[in-house]
Amino acid sequence: MPVITEIEDLKRIYKRRVPRMFYDYCESGSWTEQTFRENSSDFDDLYLRQRVAIDMTGRSTATQLIGQDVAMPVALAPVGLTGMQHADGEILAAKAAETFGVPYTLSTMSICSIEDVAEHTSKPFWLQVYTLKDDDFMQRLFDRAKDAKCSAAVITVDLQMLGQRHKDIKNGLSAPPKLTARSILDMSWRVAWGLEMLQTKRRFFGNIVGHAAGVDDPSSLSTWTAESFDQALNWDRIREFRKMWDGPLIIKGILDPRDALEALNVGADAIVVSNHGGRQLDGALSSIRALGPIMDAVGDRIEVHLDSGVRSGQDVLKAVAMGAKGCWIGRAYIYGLGAMGEKGVSEALRVIHKELDTSMGLCGRTDINAVNRDILMVPKGFSGDWEE
Ligand SMILES: Cc1cc2nc3c(=O)[nH]c(=O)nc-3n(C[C@H](O)[C@H](O)[C@H](O)COP(=O)(O)O)c2cc1C
Repeated sequence: MPVITEIEDLKRIYKRRVPRMFYDYCESGSWTEQTFRENSSDFDDLYLRQRVAIDMTGRSTATQLIGQDVAMPVALAPVGLTGMQHADGEILAAKAAETFGVPYTLSTMSICSIEDVAEHTSKPFWLQVYTLKDDDFMQRLFDRAKDAKCSAAVITVDLQMLGQRHKDIKNGLSAPPKLTARSILDMSWRVAWGLEMLQTKRRFFGNIVGHAAGVDDPSSLSTWTAESFDQALNWDRIREFRKMWDGPLIIKGILDPRDALEALNVGADAIVVSNHGGRQLDGALSSIRALGPIMDAVGDRIEVHLDSGVRSGQDVLKAVAMGAKGCWIGRAYIYGLGAMGEKGVSEALRVIHKELDTSMGLCGRTDINAVNRDILMVPKGFSGDWEE
C-alpha cells in the first residue's frame, strides 16, 4: 500500500482509479468555482498561535455531536452517488466511520439504500433528506430512517434548484448517466473500478427506485428528480418536516445569521454552516467566513457545525476555535473511498485526526472541548465588514 501522509495523496490515487465522469462530479464547484476555491483557501487566512512549554500529554479529541460520543469533532457529510465512486461505497464509508467513532450521513441520493447500510453496520448513522414535494415519500423516508434506527435526520435546505457544474453537463452526468463515447472509453481503462462495479448489484438510487411513486426503474428517475425538488420550500414547510421526525434534527446549508435564527425557531437541534461544498450559489461566502456572524447570532442556543472546504485537521481545529462544535467532511473522505474503498476512508480519518491532535498540542491545548478563539489570530474583517 502506498504511504499516505495527507489527503492530497488519496486524491491523486482516486483520480487515477475512478472514471473521469465521477471524479469531475466530485471535484467541481458551480459556475466559476469561486466559492468552491475560497472554501479551502480562506482557512489559510486564519493563523494558529503556537504556544510552548505547556504540558501537552494526555491529549483528547473526543467530544459529542448532538449528544452522541465521537472520537473527534468530525462527521462524514452526505454525498450523493457515493456508490459510483466505489462499489458499495456508502456501506464501506459507513463501516469506516463506525470503526473510527465518527458519524456517517447517508444521502437521499445514495446508491445503497437506508436498509442496506443499516444491515451492514452496527451503529446508528444519520440520514440526510432533501425537501421534496411528495409528502408521502417524505414521511416514508423519515419512517424508514426510524426503522433503521438512524440517530439523526439532516434536512438539506440549499438545493431546491441545482447550481450548474459545467463538467457534469459535458460529461453527461445525470440521473441516470447519459453515456458518451468518451465516457465509455474512459471507463474501460478503469479496470479495478469496473470489475468491482460488475460484482455489486447496487448501481441505482437505492432510496428512490421502487420507493417513490412512478419510479420503478432507473429511466424514470430523471423526470422524477426534475419534478420533485420543492422550489416553494419555506420555514413553515420545514416545521412540517420537524413534525414528521421526532428524533434529533439537523438543518444543513445555512450561510446567513437570519436563516440560522429561523432554524433555531423551527426546533432544530443543530445547523450546518455550509454552501454545499461550493456546488450551489457561486459567489457566496466561504463557510469559514460565514461562521463568525452566525455564532454571534445564535450563541450557544443551538449546536453549530461547519462543512465546505475542510481538508485537514488544522482546518477542523480552526473551525472549532471559531465556535463550531464539529466539522463535516465531504470530498476528503470521497478521495479515500475512491482510492481504496473502506481502507481509504479510514486513512482519510486517520490523517485528519493526526493533524488535529498534533496541531492542538502545539497550540498548547490538550482537550478539544477547551479549544476556543484564543488559539487563533483572525485578521480584521475576516468575517466581513460589509455595508448594510
Ligand atoms: C459529489 C458530492 C455530492 C454531494 N451530494 C450531497 C447530497 O446528496 N446531499 C447533501 O446534503 N449534500 C451533498 N453534498 C454536499 C456535502 O454534503 C458537503 O456539504 C460538502 O461536500 C462539503 O464540502 P467539502 O466537500 O469541501 O468537504 C455533496 C457534495 C459532493 C462533493
